[in-house]
Amino acid sequence: MQHQATAMTLSERADELEEQMMNDLNERIATKSVLFNMGDGKVEIEGGAALMAKHPGKYFLMGADPRLPKMPEKPTLVDFFKLRFASTAHLLLSATHALKAGLDEKTILACLLHDIGVVSFIRCDHGYWGAQLIEPYVDEEVSWAVRVHQALRFFPDESVGYKYPDMYVKYFGADYKPEPYIVAEYERARNHKWYMTARQICINDIYSFDPNAKVDLNDFVDIIGRNFKQPKEGLGFDGSPSAHMWRTMMWPTRFL
Ligand SMILES: [Fe+2]
Ligand SMILES: [Fe+2]
Repeated sequence: MQHQATAMTLSERADELEEQMMNDLNERIATKSVLFNMGDGKVEIEGGAALMAKHPGKYFLMGADPRLPKMPEKPTLVDFFKLRFASTAHLLLSATHALKAGLDEKTILACLLHDIGVVSFIRCDHGYWGAQLIEPYVDEEVSWAVRVHQALRFFPDESVGYKYPDMYVKYFGADYKPEPYIVAEYERARNHKWYMTARQICINDIYSFDPNAKVDLNDFVDIIGRNFKQPKEGLGFDGSPSAHMWRTMMWPTRFL
């Protein structure tokens, strides 16, 4: 249907422009990185020329993927929780448990963010990826704890009532032994001044504590505000050492 530009209000015009942009993006070729293909057991990449031949007359996508939830211009951590983290119940449950236990805000934040590597990015070495994502924005103690919780989870600490998780026996088999790099990480962490912060992540790293418990991200917005240095440019646009990782979550199918 044809609109008469003069008869349109500014906001109608903005809507139409936005719709046009979306249609343009739909005409673009979204690409899969090698990592996505490896997830299907293939070490493969489709070259640019082959893809163009398959989609004649189209350009590659170099921005937002219209199939994914639209991110705001200056995204915050909360925006990533809502629009890019595939599942947040476990994070909210852990943080709620830490909050109810009366732990300090840094530890609560560490619990809230401990598995963001898994829910937003990649499972393998999720503690390291998660720590790297948040490192520029949190107290060093928080990112350190997120990094090493991955290793500590495999080692009991009876002094605080933490046992080897039954879930790990179920998931990995009774004879699973962590690799040497995980053992070494545990040994380094064991004597570290922030050991107990990371151990608290493990203690609160549970999948259920009260089936009727209500969890809500809003309970943590103030703690995030006080303990996560949200960049004013938006996550991904502040030039920090992990900005590219946030951008990749925003635009995972960009050609470059
Ligand atoms: Fe974890
Ligand atoms: Fe966890």
